Amino acid sequence: MYRSHNCGELNASHINQEVTLAGWVQKTRNKGFLIWTDLRDRYGVTQLIFDEARTQKDVFELAETLGREFVIQVKGTVIERESKNPNMATGDIEILVKELTILNAAQVPPFTIEDETDGGEDIRMKYRYLDIRRNPVKNSLLFRHKVAMEVRNYLSAQGFIEVETPVLIKSTPEGARDFIVPSRMNEGQFYALPQSPQTFKQLLMVGGMDKYFQIVKCFRDEDLRADRQPEFTQIDCEMAFVEQEDIMQAFEGLASHLLKELKGVETGAFPRMTYDEAMRKYGNDKPDIRFGMEFGELNEVAQHKDFGVFNSSELVVGIAVPGGAAYTRKEIDALIDWVKRPQVGASGMIYVKCEEGGTYKSSVDKFYDQEDLKKWAEITGANAGDLILVLSGDAFKTRTRLSALRMELATRLGLRKPDEFAPLWVVDFPLLEWDEDSERFHAMHHPFTSPKPEDIPLLETDPGKVRANAYDLVLNGNEIGGGSIRIHDKDVQALMFKHLGFTDEEAKAQFGFLMDAFQYGAPPHGGLAFGFDRLVAILGGQETIRDFIAFPKNNSGRDVMIDAPSVINNAQLEELHIKLK
Ligand code: AMO
Repeated sequence: MYRSHNCGELNASHINQEVTLAGWVQKTRNKGFLIWTDLRDRYGVTQLIFDEARTQKDVFELAETLGREFVIQVKGTVIERESKNPNMATGDIEILVKELTILNAAQVPPFTIEDETDGGEDIRMKYRYLDIRRNPVKNSLLFRHKVAMEVRNYLSAQGFIEVETPVLIKSTPEGARDFIVPSRMNEGQFYALPQSPQTFKQLLMVGGMDKYFQIVKCFRDEDLRADRQPEFTQIDCEMAFVEQEDIMQAFEGLASHLLKELKGVETGAFPRMTYDEAMRKYGNDKPDIRFGMEFGELNEVAQHKDFGVFNSSELVVGIAVPGGAAYTRKEIDALIDWVKRPQVGASGMIYVKCEEGGTYKSSVDKFYDQEDLKKWAEITGANAGDLILVLSGDAFKTRTRLSALRMELATRLGLRKPDEFAPLWVVDFPLLEWDEDSERFHAMHHPFTSPKPEDIPLLETDPGKVRANAYDLVLNGNEIGGGSIRIHDKDVQALMFKHLGFTDEEAKAQFGFLMDAFQYGAPPHGGLAFGFDRLVAILGGQETIRDFIAFPKNNSGRDVMIDAPSVINNAQLEELHIKLK
């Protein structure tokens, strides 16, 4: 038996008991005749004491050799501490050690295993197994497990069953690139890793499974960001004989359950907003509605004066920054520089200070009088003391830029509070989006998404206007889930492929299996997938999903710990029929 108790459970009720503990040496303090050692395991820290007067000489001498992160086992007696630590679960006691075994010595770790470590991101990722010993990472993984358990229990109780779908598949188009796996047994042919189990879950509905879920790894070869990993996890769900409303109800149920159980937050019914409204009010299809700063469109009041920049713009739009009238010229210039960075891309920004007493001071005073600026304030909702910031240009790009500014300012102003939760459904997404590079329409969600029946005729006349039966679930400005009602009719699916630029042959070669299945009694169906890593991170009060993944990849898609991807040897290449240039 390595241990009778763990390092987090002993307290005053155990005094005088003989115990055996095992764990890692957090730190030792050597006073010459007394040595204190903090022993750590997953459950906590317990203080050990070696006392020259009470501990056998050989044990004491061995204790003097202990270094950080040594793995040890001790036997001893639980005694009351002289100076208690009320901040520690085990702070009332310590273990007077009688026997000490070094189970494994350790090199000095490359960074300190403390809550606040001296290790930077790179070194922590290289030695991720050491990083995992730290409370912040350990707690994130424990939290992830808790969320997964809640999800499984909740969905199982609602009659969903978890079905595993294959990982070596044929490419499913979800908008990103596939990761490809060469087949040894089929020369010149390749599997793709699933970007999601989309087609399989639809086939499960054709198979009559009715309510499916899976906590499942997905793979996408796309540019990485704080909320994106090349391999990530979805809570993937599908239901048969449902309409959009049924699905939204079912998964709003799951999301509210998680918020209540894990965060103690009662949300009530989630608000809903159309894609068009989200873009108009927030310039973003995943708006953070924890704070206001809604967009005010100023075309009517700012155009047709002498300011040429606005007159030639498709859209003039502004936001009110609470308290911003107090910003100095230097601070405002810094904001203007911020929106001019290539990542944002604005060519300039106009400002109006709304001063106490109802006067306005703007960077365009030459063109606009106080009455004009008062209207700007009304439209953007600016009060005395606020600052109005205005961008103009192409409508979509300008909204996107102002949205970036809105989020940046909200972060700086502390308006994005991690312990506040504001879920939101965004509905009525466009079915198709125009791709400038390939000069054709792409499915905004995926090609299996059903158009709104009343919009089907528009497919021929004005494809960009067709709305989809698609919805996203947004939490605190992050897209945490998305889904749609699917096409279950072979002819509609064929029409959709045609509009996406597939020839009949291409559609058959890539998706013949699905179209075939639709001929054998496909029920109406639909579903949704949550981004599990994102959901866990946001519930955990953060937006960087890496911290909630045990072994994440860095921004270049590398696992720096195992050093992957890596070259393979010639024999392996040959077996796979691959010739490198
Ligand atoms: P979608 O592509 O919207 O839908 O993905 C669902 C959710 O997965 C999360 N997500 C990611 N998380 C981390 N890293 C990534 N690279 C990444 N990409 C996506 C997001 C997103 O909302 N098959 C459809 C679902 C359906 O229609 O049922 C799908 O995959 O939180």
